[in-house]
Amino acid sequence: MAWKTLDDLDLDGKVVLTRVDINVPVEDGRVTDATRIERIVPTIRDILAKGGKPVLLAHFDRPKGKVVPEMSLKVVLPALEAALGQPVAFAEDCVGPVAAAAVASLPAGGVLLLENTRFHKGEEANDPAFAAELAALGDVYCNDAFSAAHRAHASTEGIARLLPSCAGRLMQAELQALEKALANPDRPVIAVVGGAKVSTKLELLGNLIGRVDAIVIGGGMANTFLAAAGIDVGKSLCEHDMTDTAREIAGRAKAANCEIVLPQDVVVAREFKAGAATEIVAATACPPDAMILDAGPASIAHIATVLSGARTLVWNGPLGAFEIPPFNAATDAAARQAAALTRAGRLLSVAGGGDTVAALNASGAAADFTYVSTAGGAFLEWLEGKTLPGVAALDQPVERTAS
Ligand code: 3PG
Ligand code: MG
Repeated sequence: MAWKTLDDLDLDGKVVLTRVDINVPVEDGRVTDATRIERIVPTIRDILAKGGKPVLLAHFDRPKGKVVPEMSLKVVLPALEAALGQPVAFAEDCVGPVAAAAVASLPAGGVLLLENTRFHKGEEANDPAFAAELAALGDVYCNDAFSAAHRAHASTEGIARLLPSCAGRLMQAELQALEKALANPDRPVIAVVGGAKVSTKLELLGNLIGRVDAIVIGGGMANTFLAAAGIDVGKSLCEHDMTDTAREIAGRAKAANCEIVLPQDVVVAREFKAGAATEIVAATACPPDAMILDAGPASIAHIATVLSGARTLVWNGPLGAFEIPPFNAATDAAARQAAALTRAGRLLSVAGGGDTVAALNASGAAADFTYVSTAGGAFLEWLEGKTLPGVAALDQPVERTAS
């Protein structure tokens, strides 16, 4: 990896424009999951320790280039201050005189958060003039927002070309974890790919087929693969117009010696609600008036066998309709087993994606995974084999001295 880190730049007395992703869930004016905020703390602490002044650039929600007061970053200030254990100054704009004055009055040891970059049209347009306005506020750029690195925006991409740039600690950790899992992994490598729709995971499956030894397919996606094999899936969520594509993927996987693991038995119900009456049937025997909502016990046992033989796991997407019990059973069982194997030192496990992380947290397994990404879309694009613009912009060759 050619990008620089905080260790490669002199930060003493420098204003370090630090792109973070604190696009966290908020309900009734309060942050309900501060994970992304907690994960940027090491970067801010390291910048402070090196004598730098962290000035945080971030987006919040999607205000589309206008000032939308409900999308002000002010809402995250209390959670940010709590995570850092110190007050954080706030500027009502991220460029111009308001921002410049706030930066100028930031004392050594202080941290400043600038208002939502997406209040300006130039952000998402990656307008060079807007990137230059941002860059004018600081001396050095640090990108710690892996989860926003799939966006080529002024604060994630344009600015990196205007200032000496480096990756923050979270960005480093995310990239290193993903490299370990996919670039040069211990084999066998298993992917668990779930979620509702095959159509959103085509590129992901296409990329993984050539890289992993087996793909466990779950969720609504699995129904499409079953239907592609000529199986009647009743009223299950299924993309019937994607069955040709699913067949083609299965054929390519076979040619590449990548095993596709589909459910052998399934949990079906007539209604999708908590406590609905369920039945376990063979995957080939979904009643016409029922829907498949989870993988069944035989499938869970088979997935366990596949997992026990694996050395590396990448996981994106739940195996069943995990939000509503009991349809979380397969996801929970696989997550707990992956966690146990990881704890025992037998598996390197990396997971990402909003739903995935919610499911792993709910099962209590997340803490034992080797790495749980803070990213949703960026994690997916990485697994698709795409270059993330925010990472690419940091990728300048560095002369490293041997150590
Ligand atoms: C996210 O929440 O996944 C990132 O912050 C990116 O947000 P976006 O999808 O609105 O670009
Ligand atoms: Mg999003």
